Amino acid sequence: MLISSVSILFQALLLLPLVHAYGHANACRSYCGNLTIDHPFALQSGCGHPGFRDLLFCINDVLMFHISSGSYRVLDIDYAYQSLTLHEPHLSNCDTLVLGNRGNGFVVEPWRSPYLNPAADNVFMLIGCSAESSLFQGFPGKHLPCRNVSGMGCEDYYGCQAWTGLGFSRLGSGYRSGPPECCSVPFEAIKAVNLTKLGCQGYSSAYSLAPLRVTGPDEWSYGIRVKFSVEVNRESYCKACEATGGSCGYDIDGLTGLCMCGSWNSTSNCDSAQSSSSYSCRGTSSLLYTLAAGFFFCMMVWMKSR
Ligand SMILES: *[C@@H]1O[C@H](CO)[C@@H](O)[C@H](O)[C@H]1NC(C)=O
Ligand SMILES: *[C@@H]1O[C@H](CO)[C@@H](O)[C@H](O)[C@H]1NC(C)=O
Ligand SMILES: *[C@@H]1O[C@H](CO)[C@@H](O)[C@H](O)[C@H]1NC(C)=O
Ligand SMILES: *[C@@H]1O[C@H](CO)[C@@H](O)[C@H](O)[C@H]1NC(C)=O
Repeated sequence: MLISSVSILFQALLLLPLVHAYGHANACRSYCGNLTIDHPFALQSGCGHPGFRDLLFCINDVLMFHISSGSYRVLDIDYAYQSLTLHEPHLSNCDTLVLGNRGNGFVVEPWRSPYLNPAADNVFMLIGCSAESSLFQGFPGKHLPCRNVSGMGCEDYYGCQAWTGLGFSRLGSGYRSGPPECCSVPFEAIKAVNLTKLGCQGYSSAYSLAPLRVTGPDEWSYGIRVKFSVEVNRESYCKACEATGGSCGYDIDGLTGLCMCGSWNSTSNCDSAQSSSSYSCRGTSSLLYTLAAGFFFCMMVWMKSR
């Protein structure tokens, strides 16, 4: 009886530092609506990867993504597949064409582009582009960049009800009377979807949820699928930081990695000897050690008591 109370008390004492240690873990993780914001993204500056700084903003539980071409709503962040799904109100879909050059398109700052790019299976469909557009340089030659991406393209998109009754020629694919009303391209082919620069009235964007093959354009997923990535060595640095209970971030200069260990910042991880204080951040390995030590101690008390 006494022994078991002692052991419970002991376990409670042992748990105290653990709670303390884990209170600091993931200081950079946050939530916006039902989306989890975790490394390499962050809402606070200093957290996450510098390539994604000043990128995400949580406004009334709606996560917004901001780049030089404008703001987009984030519908999903897939950390396993390393992708973001974005949407904006001026993106045409199967029901509605939004014309008048009101859409954002997609232009990312050059310094961010190593970390952020529309997915290779995302199709951009540029609508109502002028004959002078750089897209059609060489017209009427056969070197138009327009093509299908992941089985999606304008030929099928013309089948959407958004096109009916608009006076657009659905024979665009013939290229006889002028450039097509719609030209579908992968992002890689044009590197920036700037409607003004391309001389286009509007755009749509769709992505495929591989390996699902959908039949018609009314079943495509409309939105912009963006892949994100960080350098391999940075990734292992952050894994080591997080494994020791830290949160991965960066220094104000934006160049040096920082592992935030609650009461102190480390340039390596929270297990490093650089620690001036407290066990609170030594993370998993000391945690296991404490647990093991506690277990053995209780075992000994229990065995002695028999
Ligand atoms: C998040 O909430 C939105 C509605 O606000 C819903 O459409 C979506 O499916 C939810 N996502 C998850 C992963 O629960
Ligand atoms: C650790 O670094 C972050 C980001 O640069 C900073 O905001 C924070 O104040 C630093 N914490 C300490 C204890 O120095
Ligand atoms: C798009 O192109 C126009 C015209 O070339 C330019 O003024 C504008 O800054 C560009 N927008 C972005 C986001 O790069
Ligand atoms: C795109 O796919 C459609 C059918 O899905 C086909 O008719 C069309 O020729 C293709 N276009 C190009 C440019 O390959």
